Amino acid sequence: MSERVVVTGAAGFIGAHLVRALLEAGYDVVGIDAFTPYYAPEAKRANLAELLGRPGFRLVDADLSTMAAKRLERLLAGAAAVVHEAGQPGVHLSWGRAFPTYLRHNVLATQRLLEACTRAGVSRLVAASSSSVYGDAPTYPTTEAAAANPVSPYGVTKLAAEQLCLAYARQPGAALSVVMLRYFTVYGPGQRPDMAFHRFILAALAGRPITVYGDGEQRRDVTHVSDAVSATIKAITAPAVDAVVNVGGGHPVTVNRALELIAQVTGRRLDVTYAPARAGDARHTGADGTRAEALLDWRPEVDLATGLAGQAAWIAGRVRPAIAADID
Ligand SMILES: NC(=O)c1ccc[n+]([C@@H]2O[C@H](COP(=O)([O-])OP(=O)(O)OC[C@H]3O[C@@H](n4cnc5c(N)ncnc54)[C@H](O)[C@@H]3O)[C@@H](O)[C@H]2O)c1
Repeated sequence: MSERVVVTGAAGFIGAHLVRALLEAGYDVVGIDAFTPYYAPEAKRANLAELLGRPGFRLVDADLSTMAAKRLERLLAGAAAVVHEAGQPGVHLSWGRAFPTYLRHNVLATQRLLEACTRAGVSRLVAASSSSVYGDAPTYPTTEAAAANPVSPYGVTKLAAEQLCLAYARQPGAALSVVMLRYFTVYGPGQRPDMAFHRFILAALAGRPITVYGDGEQRRDVTHVSDAVSATIKAITAPAVDAVVNVGGGHPVTVNRALELIAQVTGRRLDVTYAPARAGDARHTGADGTRAEALLDWRPEVDLATGLAGQAAWIAGRVRPAIAADID
C-alpha cells in the first residue's frame, strides 16, 4: 500500500503543484483546503481540476482554524507525513484591518494542526515558512543563523508559526519532528495573481502599464515552483530534525532585470512606471543554500529565463483567454 501524505493548502499555488508531484512519486495524498477568498476560489479549484479524479487523491474542503479537532485528527492518523502549505499570504495587506485573518490562517491554523499532529502520532511535519521572516537581513546571501527581524505583520505571523512548530517538536517525548522551509519568492505556472511576476506578465501580454514599487533595483531571490516542490518532497524523508531551511533559487535578480527578461519571453515592449516602495517589503532577499544542500541534498535547477518563459506560456494559455474580452 502507498504511503499517505496530508497536504494542507492543497488547492493553492504551491500546494497543487506539490499534490501532483506527490501522486507522481507514488504517494497517496489527502488534500485539505478552505478555499479562502484571498484570491478567486475558482482559480484554486482550477489548480486541482485535473487531479481530482486521480486514484490516490482525496480533497477535503475544510478550514484548519475551525474544523472539528477530532475530524482533523482522523485525517492525519496513519499519515507518513503532513505538509503544511495552508496560510494567508501577501505582505502588503497584512497591515491594519486584515491582521486577524493573518493570525487565524497562519498562527491559529498552525497551532490546531500541531495539536492534531501530536494526538494522531504524526512523526514528520514539513511546514511552509518564508524569507519574509528575515526582514532586512544583516548579510546576503542570508544563512538560517541570521536574526529573524520581519518588516511586515505577515512575516511576524510566519515566524510565530515556525516557533510554534519548534515548540511542539521540542516537547519531551514528542514523536513529531518538523522541517520548516523558508521559501524565497516562488514563481512559475499557477503563481498567485497578486504576485509581481504574474501581474507583470499579464500586463505585458495585455499591453497595460506596469507599476513597480521602489526603484526596481531591489534584489529578489526567486525560486521556481518545481524547485520549491522538489525541496519539499525531500524534506518529507530527510533525516533533518527540527530544522529551519532556506529554499531559494540561488540567483537573486533585480526587479528591473526580471522585467527585461519578461519583455524577452513575451516579445512585448513594457510600459513601466515607478511608485514609492511599499511598507513591508525587504530591500533585498538572498538565500544561502548551504543548509538545504547538506540536510535535504537539494539544490535549485531552473534558471529564471526558462522559468519565466513557462509562466508566460501558462498565463497566455489559461489566464489570458478568460479576460480576452477585456484586454483585446
Ligand atoms: N508563493 C510564495 O512565493 C511563497 C513564499 C514564501 C512562503 N510561502 C508560503 O507558502 C504557502 C503556500 O503559498 P501559496 O503561494 O501557494 O499561497 P496560496 O494562497 O496559493 O495557497 C494557500 C492555500 O491555503 C488555503 N488556506 C488558507 N488558510 C487555510 C485554512 N485555515 N485551512 C485550510 N486551508 C487554508 C487557501 O485557500 C489556499 O488555497 C503559504 O503558507 C505561504 O505563506 C509562499
